[in-house]
Amino acid sequence: METYAVGPELHALPSALPIPDSGLQPVNAYLLRGEQPMLVDAGMPVDRDAFEEALWSLVDPADLRWIAITHDDRDHTGSLTRILDHAPGAKIVTNGISLTRLSEEFEIPRGRVVTVNSGSRISIGDRKVSFHRPPTFDSPGTLAVFDHEAGTLFSSDSFGTVLPETVQHVGDADAKEFFEGFDVLNRAIAPWTALVDAEKFLRTVHAVSSLSPARVLSAHGPTVEGRMVTSLMEAMARIPFLPAWLPGADVDLEAALDAHGARAAPDCPGTRLSRR
Ligand SMILES: [Fe+2]
Ligand SMILES: [Fe+2]
Repeated sequence: METYAVGPELHALPSALPIPDSGLQPVNAYLLRGEQPMLVDAGMPVDRDAFEEALWSLVDPADLRWIAITHDDRDHTGSLTRILDHAPGAKIVTNGISLTRLSEEFEIPRGRVVTVNSGSRISIGDRKVSFHRPPTFDSPGTLAVFDHEAGTLFSSDSFGTVLPETVQHVGDADAKEFFEGFDVLNRAIAPWTALVDAEKFLRTVHAVSSLSPARVLSAHGPTVEGRMVTSLMEAMARIPFLPAWLPGADVDLEAALDAHGARAAPDCPGTRLSRR
């Protein structure tokens, strides 16, 4: 795993996941060093050895103090328990729902967890970080993490993309491909965006935009900084106006129903919701 510096005391631990017919989904964790080093997310299970080797090349296990788990999905928790074992001074900071869901798979000592909600703030040494619900997400406990010192928004799954090749910085990607991938990923993780009240959704975009992030670091995208942050927010504001995105399937249910004459007419009693 080839780590790279994103900013002062800030490093990416990058990997990627092939998405059939769409390209590569970046899968990044981040390490914020400083007085009390904080890891944001913990890699994929398939990457465990390489991830941990890369992590411990950047920080001494004895120095790691915080592991922010933005949500419980496997691509954010692959090395979590091994890191806890290796770094006895580190505490998890996550949402209570994420903690419950993590507990389905892992035994996590309650004394090593600090739970937070959207709006919570904590101090990690000389830095203040706050937690925020990002506009798109695929797990109910999802929180973005905002470092007030550097203006970095760690946006979890939100604001990610799918690209033909992974790049470190958005400026290294073709802008059209970046935003096409953005539309795919943000709907793939949140197909419910096609159902939401756009005005209410926009409030969530404004909430993170009003933090005035200097850079946005998605778990699934390259570094976005400067004026491109505005373009990113504008792209997110368009998401609820797009139809839901679905992946390809080997079996087309609708075609199969048509072929067998089994599709119910709209007014067929079998298609009505029963009311009691
Ligand atoms: Fe996720
Ligand atoms: Fe993810």
